[in-house]
Amino acid sequence: MKASFWHACWEKNSLGFHQTSIHPFLSQQLLPLMSSKTDECQTGKQQRVLVPLCGKSDDMVWLAEHFDVVGAELSDIACRDFFREKSIEVTPTQISDTQTQAAFKQYSFENITLLQGDFFKLSAEQLSDFDWIYDRAAIIALPKTMQQAYADHLATFITQHSRLFLISLEFPQEELSGPPFSLFEQDINRLFTGFNVKCIAEHELADKTFAQRTFKVSYLREKLYIITR
Ligand SMILES: C[S@@+](CC[C@H](N)C(=O)[O-])C[C@H]1O[C@@H](n2cnc3c(N)ncnc32)[C@H](O)[C@@H]1O
Repeated sequence: MKASFWHACWEKNSLGFHQTSIHPFLSQQLLPLMSSKTDECQTGKQQRVLVPLCGKSDDMVWLAEHFDVVGAELSDIACRDFFREKSIEVTPTQISDTQTQAAFKQYSFENITLLQGDFFKLSAEQLSDFDWIYDRAAIIALPKTMQQAYADHLATFITQHSRLFLISLEFPQEELSGPPFSLFEQDINRLFTGFNVKCIAEHELADKTFAQRTFKVSYLREKLYIITR
């Protein structure tokens, strides 16, 4: 998908992927995993989560109750609307990535920072390490031709201490032209070759509804992977 596709979605408010509630895997699956990790609790250090291709997802509000949140998003409308819909006034500042020289607009309020710009030009060196990376409707939003580049770039943010929480979507791709794009377990394993990939949960979307869209597909299933180095 070209940048112009996503800019057009935001301009036309064509946001079928945007959830009107918090993803259930957060409280069901992430919460227990967080409490099983004690070292940050002992040091008192606030944990950090990176949300690539974050849109204006309210999952970041849930995440901000537990972490410092850094979202990366192409659309300025998404970043503005995320705060505006919560009646929070934020004045963005301009920053430049020290490695790639790319320009980003930074929107920050309390422990949420949104970086508006091209995620592929955001370098891991620009940011402190993350404990978690949260991918919901990010890798599956990209066509097959872009998924490896995205996974490789995402990998640069995965340290020995961080975990990628990745929610994939499975359906017969021939029944629907994306986005979203179907990703099966073998695809995830191939994209993250050399990493530990564990599928820890799955659920059928019985009414075939994904956020605000209902698809005419034979089945629709979400799977949750924890990916580590
Ligand atoms: C399918 S939406 C999902 C948004 C969010 N993850 C959610 O759950 O609502 C994909 C988002 O990725 C953004 N995006 C696409 N390409 C991007 C890029 N290269 N850098 C940053 N954001 C990008 C789009 O603007 C769009 O908001």
